[in-house]
Amino acid sequence: MADTYLAMASCSSRLNGYRTGTPESFAFDKGDYCTNRQNLPPKCVNLLKICIGTMERMGQASKLGCSKCNQEYPSEQLRNLCDCGAPLLVHYDLHGIRSTWKRNHLKSAVNSMWRYAPVLPADAADAVTLSEGWTPLIRADALGAEIGARNVWIKDEGRNPTDSFKARGLCCAVTMARKLGAKKLAIPSAGNAAGALAAYAAAAGLEAHIFMPQDVPEANFLECGAFGADVRLIDGLISDCGRIVAERKAAEGWFEVSTLKEPYRIEGKKTMGYEVAEQFDWEVPDAILYPCGGGVGLIGMWKAFAELEELGWIGTKRPKMISVQATGCAPITRAFENDAEASEFWKGAHTVASGLRVPKALGDFLVLRAVRESKGIAVSVSDEEMLDAGLLMSEKQGIFPAPEGGACVAAVKKLLANGFLKPDDRTVIFNTGSGYKYLEAYRTRFPRQIASEEDKLGGLITPR
Ligand SMILES: Cc1ncc(COP(=O)(O)O)c(C=O)c1O
Ligand SMILES: [Zn+2]
Repeated sequence: MADTYLAMASCSSRLNGYRTGTPESFAFDKGDYCTNRQNLPPKCVNLLKICIGTMERMGQASKLGCSKCNQEYPSEQLRNLCDCGAPLLVHYDLHGIRSTWKRNHLKSAVNSMWRYAPVLPADAADAVTLSEGWTPLIRADALGAEIGARNVWIKDEGRNPTDSFKARGLCCAVTMARKLGAKKLAIPSAGNAAGALAAYAAAAGLEAHIFMPQDVPEANFLECGAFGADVRLIDGLISDCGRIVAERKAAEGWFEVSTLKEPYRIEGKKTMGYEVAEQFDWEVPDAILYPCGGGVGLIGMWKAFAELEELGWIGTKRPKMISVQATGCAPITRAFENDAEASEFWKGAHTVASGLRVPKALGDFLVLRAVRESKGIAVSVSDEEMLDAGLLMSEKQGIFPAPEGGACVAAVKKLLANGFLKPDDRTVIFNTGSGYKYLEAYRTRFPRQIASEEDKLGGLITPR
């Protein structure tokens, strides 16, 4: 692959903050285009000339590597798993990137996850973007006071396009799928990933074929329809949906973007780790609580911290990575407690946190490895606990979280009670989605009551 270079800052008028080009295309005597081969108006050429002095090496993916057997593959091809069946991870020339990409470049970077484009697999210019990422990290003192924590923060991922952190991963996956020539994408999903795929596929002009359990939240079903996706509801779990996609994809010509079955969703989700580090001025927190279904975000953040250390942007400290699951579906917690390297299929999975209803994750061994290496822990909370805690976050902070976010609050309470977390630990709770997408779950707490005749008596509108 040709070396790719990134010109920062003032040449950004058209391409989201960046112009890119191979060395030849920056030979301005003859070159008048950047790598996307678009002719540039003369004004832009001038700007590029100005910028050439600060030209930066671009962090394009250098290869894909197997997370289990280390087999390598070229990065510029549509691929799902390694031949051995394990997930693939994206590698970059971090040594090269380190010499040119500096933390202070972020001061003028775009306010989305594409601010980290040098460590993402595509140019910002090629991104199918709906402005995902760069979500707020909010100090939650009122919530903390209720649960006995003095330094607790909420990373509010409910602010993403389609109201969940799934936007980050699917943005990256759809960007790469389009770039590498896919036309029809298919996904088995617990709900939010389907909504995100449908939105990004719509933005990219690609087909989305979606398989979800028939009892997914209504919001997920409706949003997929609104985005024009082909939606099938299945009488079963996400694992059944996954089987159907795997069986049909060859005949249908679908490219499968299931969790961890393509390498780029991790790359989008890893930007949560970059953001937390940047938002704390490059000092990572003491603990991160993450609601774990397939585990992509946790795996991604763990990768992000390793990359950040290699870039020289953070030191060796790592947050304790804490996996939070529901007692009705807790394969990772059980494996952690049993000192197992991988999880076992959880039979009869049930929880209102639909994103956590994943009975067996392909990347379970990566989640467990990250939790253990970080000296973290895996815990579970009941549906009642996560809804109570979700409503506590709502009342105390004005943030209405997904039950998955509530689960993390409930987990903090438990871990403070048993001493695993200390009240002064800087603790980050991931609210991975918005409560507005889970109205059925919260409705159980707020039965509708019609005003009685008594209430109406003497009222301003219907005086008697
Ligand atoms: C709101 C929410 N939180 C957490 C998860 C779990 O995500 P992951 O697969 O990264 O573990 C999901 C997955 O659907 C989700 O929708
Ligand atoms: Zn392999």
